[in-house]
Amino acid sequence: MPSRVFVTREIPEVGLDIIRSNCNATVWENEMPPSREDIISLAQDCEGLVTLLSDQIDAEVIERLPRLRVIAQYAVGYDNIDIAAATRRGILVTNTPGVLTETTADLAWSLLMAASRRVVEADAYVRERRWRVAWGPKMLLGRDIFGATLGIVGMGRIGFAMARRATGFQMRVLYTSRSETDLTRRAEEELGATRVDIDTLLEQSDFVSLHTPLTEETRHLINRNRLKKMKPTAVLINTARGPVVDEEALVDALENGWIRAAGLDVFTKEPLPADSPLTRLPNVVLAPHIGSASVETRDRMAVICAENLLAGLQGRRPRDLVNEGAWKA
Ligand code: NAP
Ligand code: GLV
Ligand code: GLV
Repeated sequence: MPSRVFVTREIPEVGLDIIRSNCNATVWENEMPPSREDIISLAQDCEGLVTLLSDQIDAEVIERLPRLRVIAQYAVGYDNIDIAAATRRGILVTNTPGVLTETTADLAWSLLMAASRRVVEADAYVRERRWRVAWGPKMLLGRDIFGATLGIVGMGRIGFAMARRATGFQMRVLYTSRSETDLTRRAEEELGATRVDIDTLLEQSDFVSLHTPLTEETRHLINRNRLKKMKPTAVLINTARGPVVDEEALVDALENGWIRAAGLDVFTKEPLPADSPLTRLPNVVLAPHIGSASVETRDRMAVICAENLLAGLQGRRPRDLVNEGAWKA
């Protein structure tokens, strides 16, 4: 008997094809996400669940899915899933690391450049017919990227890909990390990066880019006091998770010139509420959580998500297993 699987959104066909040809799959076909009650009812008899980062898979949802054995997240971050609750039940949780690293770093880099050189303001300036002087010595001045200092908070896969891009711009790279890993060693040896504490990083960097997962430890890591430590000319880039930054404090920082600009792909509440003060600030570049949004990468994510799901359902250890404890159990 093929396993029953509920897929909470239409991921790219290359992934759905693998799932459909091996499982008895139900796919949620609306653009709007299923509610938690929808997930509980449609996954009621399912052994497998494919989730997006916007699905809240908390302890109660997990408790109410009695047959569940695998949760395959279509994302690298999995802060929307109660991992402890899944592990207690022996449910394997998988994610999609690696395949989206460079694509997400590309987007973070786009935000960095756009915010620093005011690309979005400049575009509006032209479209809104405010461009009246052919070439202004002081028109839309930004700040240099080449030769500046980039501070990377969290030297993991995406942080390392950012550091590698920075070498092409002859930047000095500072970073924070809790642990020493292969990537932190390579960042130092191959890219000349220097490990510092977070406060030193904030005081010295012209660009600060966040690349940690969202955890209890990183929630509001960038708070009011830390924003005040940054240079008034600095730019903050967040492609990690919204709650890593205290968003209210960030609005104050941008309004009061504690920092110069920000480039944001992630927010405390997504979608960003229409009345968010961030939408009124000219010195912010906003994106709707599109870090991994390239055709190639979304296809790769779909394939490894499907492969991880199938491995778990067939009793093989999934390549991208998040909770080792569930496998041992
Ligand atoms: P990763 O390889 O696991 O890197 C995360 C790094 O953060 C690790 O090196 C980790 O090292 C470090 N870290 C954790 N807690 C820390 C702390 N308190 N202080 C300093 N460093 C800390 O993950 P990744 O693949 O690079 O992805 C990172 C995050 O990016 C994901 O979790 C996700 O939230 C986000 N993301 C967003 C998008 C988007 O669309 N915007 C796309 C992909 C990923 P230690 O644990 O050893 O400290
Ligand atoms: C996207 O935000 C991801 O975590 O993959
Ligand atoms: C600008 O276009 C220049 O030639 O300096």
